Amino acid sequence: MTQETALLPTSPVAGEDHVPLRKVFVKTYGCQMNVYDSDRMSDALARDGYVATDAVEDADFVLLNTCHIREKAAEKVYSELGRLRDLKKARANEGREMVIGVAGCVAQAEGDEILRRAPAVDLVIGPQTYHRLPEALKRARGGERVVETDYAIEDKFDHLPNPDRAKTRARGVTAFLTVQEGCDKFCTFCVVPYTRGAEVSRPVAQILAEAEKLVEAGVREITLLGQNVNAWHGAGPEGRDWGLGDLLRRLGEIDGLARLRYTTSHPRDMDDSLIEAHRSMAKLMPYLHLPVQSGSDRILKAMNRRHTATEYLALIDRIRVAQPDLALSGDFIVGFPGETEKDFEDTMRLVESVGYAQAFSFKYSSRPGTPGAELKDQVPEDVKAKRLERLQTLLARHQRDFAAACVGREIDLLLEKPGRLAGQLVGRSPWLQPVNVDAKQSQIGDIIRVRITKAGPNSLFAEMIG
Ligand code: 5AD
Ligand code: SF4
Repeated sequence: MTQETALLPTSPVAGEDHVPLRKVFVKTYGCQMNVYDSDRMSDALARDGYVATDAVEDADFVLLNTCHIREKAAEKVYSELGRLRDLKKARANEGREMVIGVAGCVAQAEGDEILRRAPAVDLVIGPQTYHRLPEALKRARGGERVVETDYAIEDKFDHLPNPDRAKTRARGVTAFLTVQEGCDKFCTFCVVPYTRGAEVSRPVAQILAEAEKLVEAGVREITLLGQNVNAWHGAGPEGRDWGLGDLLRRLGEIDGLARLRYTTSHPRDMDDSLIEAHRSMAKLMPYLHLPVQSGSDRILKAMNRRHTATEYLALIDRIRVAQPDLALSGDFIVGFPGETEKDFEDTMRLVESVGYAQAFSFKYSSRPGTPGAELKDQVPEDVKAKRLERLQTLLARHQRDFAAACVGREIDLLLEKPGRLAGQLVGRSPWLQPVNVDAKQSQIGDIIRVRITKAGPNSLFAEMIG
């Protein structure tokens, strides 16, 4: 039995009569917003008597929460569905039912095409309709093949349950909180505006209520999520329009909440108030994920990023003046249609001048329905692969240099969970690197002072001070 199921009631009584215990297995692909959504869907199903299981073969309901951002991510889903089809057959032979559902961005983008391509699938549900999942699942269990991919008129956040207290305890001392969803930027390579819809901000009161619930359940660090999180805005209680900087300052007033982070940001939405929050808020961690995608103005224009490389660099300078200790992270795409060797060199130069503490880099993947897919001059795979390798070598060097420069520094460390070795706990540095330290299990949730002693390939090592 997992820790999670151990905390759940053993004989849940749902709306109807006594509902027999059913098990749900959720597999999450892609970004942190999918992680957040998967938790909310599990919470919603718990009301109907579903308990989470880690064993797919035991599940009455298998839900894949999918990612459509690159071709590879989407293809993974179909291979998983192939394996599940066999499992479903095997279970049927034992007289047991298994409902298979597909949620997330593949569900939104492909809709009933999934039912055609993967006949074992019973239910397809897009990210805007997750509050309808319990109902949709009932229909699927009744034999209907259900597709729910409308952009719902009602706000899913009004209907989805807030994080469950007991489960939040089991999930740990850090949590995600979605404050904004969707995107109106329409970068020409990206499917997000089509799968997640237009930019929508959750209201201040809803966010504060959820944050307070999380903190009551023991959460000490919250990461605000949004595809364009720094485009978040809402009516403040005093009637003024708030931006993300205002929201962070208000969240910073919650007693017991020790740390705040946010992701993912767009350079065009980094306003003065948000930069000021980095200067003045000790609770706001000195880490910023600010994707630039390319260092070439020509490619940035073709990508519809609506800023130049020089503007991006000037922005970084301003943020670093406000918070000199800032670790920067970025996303890069190599081989966008028309990218020449010279364009790629511009990206390498930009990377050299920024010095990222962490970065994610990808070969351009043509996505059906996006303007990029229509462009001539697609770059050959082998050229993309070579460029990616060169870029990743450089980024990895910067990441190692950044980690090495942390050795000897004293930091506050939030202890999150058991480490790999007995007697160790692991937490995150202010710059998001995992840090291992000798500490007792009972110290999970504490913030302790440590000195960083060593930098490993993927994590840091530290010793307690005092
Ligand atoms: N091909 C490659 N990478 C992509 N990304 C988004 N769309 C594509 C695509 N079509 C990358 C971007 C984005 C990150 C989440 O994924 O770098 O910032
Ligand atoms: Fe995609 Fe661009 Fe929107 Fe980011 S800003 S989600 S890359 S369209």
